[in-house]
Amino acid sequence: MNVTEHLSETAFLTNESRSRMVDVSKDIYAHLWVTPATKKIWDDFAAYVYKHDDVELSIRNRYYLENLKAFLQEHQDPVFINIAAGFTSYPFLINAPCHCIEIDYQHVIDFKRPKILEWQKNGQLPKCDLEFYGTDLTNKHDHEQMTAAFKHWIGNRPSFVLLEGITYYLEPKVLDQLLKLIASTQTKGSLLGLEYWTPDIVEHPVFIRLEDYFEKRFHYKKGTYHLIDDDFIRSLPNYDVVEITDVKEQEQIFCDQTILDDYAVGLPTSMSVLRKK
Ligand SMILES: C[S@@+](CC[C@H](N)C(=O)[O-])C[C@H]1O[C@@H](n2cnc3c(N)ncnc32)[C@H](O)[C@@H]1O
Repeated sequence: MNVTEHLSETAFLTNESRSRMVDVSKDIYAHLWVTPATKKIWDDFAAYVYKHDDVELSIRNRYYLENLKAFLQEHQDPVFINIAAGFTSYPFLINAPCHCIEIDYQHVIDFKRPKILEWQKNGQLPKCDLEFYGTDLTNKHDHEQMTAAFKHWIGNRPSFVLLEGITYYLEPKVLDQLLKLIASTQTKGSLLGLEYWTPDIVEHPVFIRLEDYFEKRFHYKKGTYHLIDDDFIRSLPNYDVVEITDVKEQEQIFCDQTILDDYAVGLPTSMSVLRKK
């Protein structure tokens, strides 16, 4: 198996995490993608890396879901573009009119589109205004086509663009180009959600184990993650920071317990929301 397929495996893992804490994640459809094989990998991952991925991923999902819902309430004719969407469920959870676009590798789209259509047909998933777009974010030719696609989707409309579970997998050059593309197409007042890991994570015990596990299990090389700091977020031209936060802080809002107060047990994960100037 190559790296791209393995990355998609991490998307399955995040689904099991969200489905384990539906009261927090609110992702009542996450379980649809979970197979016995995924559960087995999740248990293995929990034993080797850390056992709180369910808390972390559920908080992450809830945070962006609440931000997206609030944005949709305030805007007419909105567009939601989820880059590297994996098997997240936002379009089915928002309960508001919105044109949604899910971007991922073509082979991931080919896998998920028929399943979603089937689940919509038999009533397991609600119908919604959803479009799929297959691309390789690292491919220059694909990038040019995606620029045209963004212009077409957004036009003069307000948009919420999300980069969740992906920034650390993209080389700096690729992320920069992607951020430029987004900035050049979003209209004033539109939102950008960016989830990321900061450089100090390299010394965190959970991250050290995660790097080790991903290298062994998915052949994803240690030391190749793209880490960005809060200053990078603050200095993005064209955007004002609405919020920079992390899963630990959001746990106090969305959970009854505060497991992540113990710094050593969680994976420090930053989340930001930016507004286009
Ligand atoms: C860790 S998963 C995150 C999925 C989802 N956003 C979430 O937060 O649960 C990473 C996703 O990025 C996609 N991905 C990674 N590299 C990509 C690339 N170069 N082009 C397109 N999709 C990519 C994978 O297929 C996978 O669905």
